[in-house]
Amino acid sequence: MRFDIMTLFPELVETVLGESIIGRARAAGILDIRTYNIRTYSDDKRHRVDDTPYGGGRGMLMAPPPIWNCYRAVLADGAPEGTVPDDPDLLPPKPANTRVLYMSPRGTTFTQKKAAELASLDRVIILCGHYEGVDERVLEEIVDEEVSIGDYVLTGGEIPACIVTDSISRLVPGVLALPECYENESFQDGLLEYPQYTRPPVWHGRAVPEVLLSGHHANIDEWRHEKSVEITKERRPDLLGSQDIPK
Ligand code: ADE
Repeated sequence: MRFDIMTLFPELVETVLGESIIGRARAAGILDIRTYNIRTYSDDKRHRVDDTPYGGGRGMLMAPPPIWNCYRAVLADGAPEGTVPDDPDLLPPKPANTRVLYMSPRGTTFTQKKAAELASLDRVIILCGHYEGVDERVLEEIVDEEVSIGDYVLTGGEIPACIVTDSISRLVPGVLALPECYENESFQDGLLEYPQYTRPPVWHGRAVPEVLLSGHHANIDEWRHEKSVEITKERRPDLLGSQDIPK
């Protein structure tokens, strides 16, 4: 799966998505994650990317031209020969099964369900905002969906973009060693994950629940399900809602 991340701080994104499981999946060619520095697409001789908002108000806004030029370059990369228009006001065709996201507290809240939906795409293009935001017109021209990672405001879209990319990526076949890794985890079936234990069997006077040492898989599954329901009821009753508890 391919991700194209347009940002003013590509090093920040590369640092986060260059390590551990995602870093290894990139090295193995399972994930193709590319970052683009929007500033390098500014036509301004001082490479400015922001300007003051019309109508007054706080701070600076990211102006449309550098973002537009950057997006054109993203689409032009690898586009079939003869499909990239010379006219800078026109875009190369957007490949099939591709979605453009803009990270914003104004977007719809990111969930495990949304991660799974996006993981079925071939390509996700992400625009990270900075300063006080982005000129609305360029969002209207290029963005399919605004995505928020929660009801709080960060200084930019880079950390949200890393979170969304990480969460989608781990659902891409081959990124995690075993598919079971994500079959039993929190949110997968609308429940939070059950508690887990490893050696030693007794630590600080606390023993691992007996059933987990029994080797009886049906009893273990039942215990885990009960614990999942108990923890979800206690911590996130909203997840259960009025629906039946999954068996
Ligand atoms: N940019 C700033 N805050 C954000 C949030 N909560 N979600 C997504 N992008 C953001």
